This record gives sequence, C-alpha cells and structure tokens, in this order.
Amino acid sequence: MERLDKYLASRGTGSRREVQQLIKSGAVTVDGAVCKKPETKLSESSEVLVRGQAVGERFVYLMLNKPAGVVSATEDKRDKTVIDILPDEWKNRGLFPAGRLDKDTEGLLILTNDGDFAHRMLSPKKHVEKQYVAHLDGEVTEEMVKRFRDGIIFADGTRCMPAKLRVADGGDKCTALVGICEGKFHQVKKMFAVCGRKVVHLQRISVGNLYLDSNLPIGSCKSLTNLEISRIFFGNIH
Ligand code: URA
Repeated sequence: MERLDKYLASRGTGSRREVQQLIKSGAVTVDGAVCKKPETKLSESSEVLVRGQAVGERFVYLMLNKPAGVVSATEDKRDKTVIDILPDEWKNRGLFPAGRLDKDTEGLLILTNDGDFAHRMLSPKKHVEKQYVAHLDGEVTEEMVKRFRDGIIFADGTRCMPAKLRVADGGDKCTALVGICEGKFHQVKKMFAVCGRKVVHLQRISVGNLYLDSNLPIGSCKSLTNLEISRIFFGNIH
C-alpha cells in the first residue's frame, strides 16, 4: 500500500512537492475518479493516470560514463556525486550507483533504483565479470597473469577470487585488460600493487556482456533497454 504522492514521485512525475501540487490541482485520477488527496493509499491494482496518461516505470536503469573527479555516492559533503551530474529528469528517482568506482576511475557505472537488481549484479556468487582497462607504470608479465589467475592475496591475508589479466589488444605491454567478479575496495589497484605495479589510469569498460557505449560522452548517461539490461547477466557461469 503506497501513498499516491510517493508513487508518482518514484515514477518520475516530479518531486514530492510538485506531485502534491499536481494532485491538488485535480490532474490525477485513481481508478477513473479525480483524486485530490496526496496521502491516498493505493492498492496493487489501482490505475493511476496523470492528465489521462499512464505514469512511467518504477524502476530505472542508467548507464553513466563516469568522469574522474566525482564520487560513486548519492550524497557527499565535499565532492560532486554521480547523482549531482545527472540531468534533472533523473534526480528525483531514488537512483544510486550499483557498485562503486573510485573518484579517479572513469567508465561504465550502472545507476538504478532497483535494489534487488543491484544486489544480483554485485554478488560475487552471480559471477558477473567487470572488465577494466588499466594503464600501468610497468609491463604485464606472465608471472603477474598467473598470480591473478590463482587469486591475488593482499598483505592483510584477504584472498581475491581468480581474475583475468592480459595485455590489451593494442599490444602495449603497460596497458592491461582485467576481469574480476567481485568488488573489494580499490581492488584492481591493490591487485597490481601486490605485483609491484601502480595503476596510473583506470576505466571500466563492461559489466557482464554490457559494454560501455563508445558514443556516450564522458559525464553523460543513457537509459538502458531491456535487452541491454539482460546482457549484464547473459553468458555468466551461474
Ligand atoms: N578497482 C579499483 O581499484 N578501483 C575502481 O574504481 C574499481 C576497481
């Protein structure tokens, strides 16, 4: 049982205050009758229309090409967040980043208001591989590839799951492609640090089989289609 104003705000009709005004103006009908009370409780089957039009979907899934310099959070006292840089239409939808990229990391970040989906995407048990392009201060060696494959162990004894490492397609031995299925704090940087390498630039390029759209400018976002969302999970081991 959801309140009418909350229901409309969560589907992108406007901020809570805006939808309250909209409701009081008589623009909203519930099951065919004008309803001017924002606090009205809806049932599962209630049909809500705004000026005769159906309202938007509850869940939103965005691909953001995250720039460096913004934090993967919904609020921050000091830094700009990934929510701050969204166009206004997405600001009141209860979005949060599904996973975190460091402040200086760029690339593919999924923003959603679907908690179950985010949990599924991030759970190491679901084996959703995240791929990164890492520019290093030294070359990738066979020994490093083996250590990544066996599971890197951090200084505090934390063991990482087996990860993929190879020299990126360009053949530059200091540019690596890394695939991991978990999201420990600073994981990629720490895995390379264990091998004596510093990551000088990091970009996430894929989550599952969903790749960063090469036409999406840094700092821009786009709404994902159902097909694109399904690519996140399609082809995973579990
Ligand atoms: N690993 C890191 O070290 N940083 C990121 O932002 C993501 C993965």
